[in-house]
Amino acid sequence: MTALIKKPQVLNKVQQEIRTLVGKKGRVAEDDINKLPYLKAVVKETLRLHPPGPLSLPRLTIKTSIIDGHEIEPNTIVYVNVWAIGRDPNFWENPNEFLPERFLNSSMDFKGQDFEFLPFGSGRRVCPGMALGTAELNVVLANLLYSFNWELPPGMVEDDVDMDSLPGLVTHKKNPLCLMAKSYV
Ligand code: HEM
Repeated sequence: MTALIKKPQVLNKVQQEIRTLVGKKGRVAEDDINKLPYLKAVVKETLRLHPPGPLSLPRLTIKTSIIDGHEIEPNTIVYVNVWAIGRDPNFWENPNEFLPERFLNSSMDFKGQDFEFLPFGSGRRVCPGMALGTAELNVVLANLLYSFNWELPPGMVEDDVDMDSLPGLVTHKKNPLCLMAKSYV
C-alpha cells in the first residue's frame, strides 16, 4: 500500500484491473486472483524491493567453497543478501524503481529457481508457507484495493510518505502508513 500510494498511476491501474474483473460482485475471491496478472506483478515487485526476510535464514557451509574468488571455510555461517540481489543493477533495469510491469510477460517467479529474485529463499530450506503467504497477500490486497479509494491525508503529498523500515529477522515498517479510505462498493 505504501509503494502504491507513492505511485498513483500504478494504484489506478491495479484497481482498474480488479474492478473490471470483479464488477459489482462485492468481494474479490481467491479464484479471481489468477485472472489478475497486474495485481500479481504488484505483489512480486513489492517482494523484490521489500523482502520481509532481507537476509533469508543463515546457512552453515559444510566444505570449503569459493564464491566470487573469496574462499569460505567449512563451518562458516553465511547469509544471502536477498534484499541486495533484488536491487542489483546487473540483473534489474532501474532497480530502485517500483515498476510492476517488469513482471508482466515474464516467467520470473519467487519459487527459488530464479536466483535474482528470492523473497522466499531457495533450496531445501525454502519457505514452506510460500503458497499460503502469497494467497493471503493477493486476496487481502485485492480486497483493500477493490473496496476502497485511497487518499493521502489533507496536506500530504506522495513524497511525504516514507519507506523506512526497522531491522529484525522480519522487516517491518518504521512508521505506520496513514491513509484515508473512501468506500467504493
Ligand atoms: C509473504 C509471506 C512470507 C515470506 C516473504 C516468507 C519468507 C521466508 C524466507 C525468506 C524464509 C527463509 C528461506 C530460506 O532460507 O531459504 C522462510 C522460511 C520459513 N517460512 Fe516463510 N515467508 C512467508 C510466509 C510464511 C508462512 C505463511 C508460513 C507458515 C504458515 C511460513 C513458514 C516458514 C517456515 C516454517 C520457514 C523455515 C523453513 C526451514 O527452515 O526449513 N512462511 N520464509
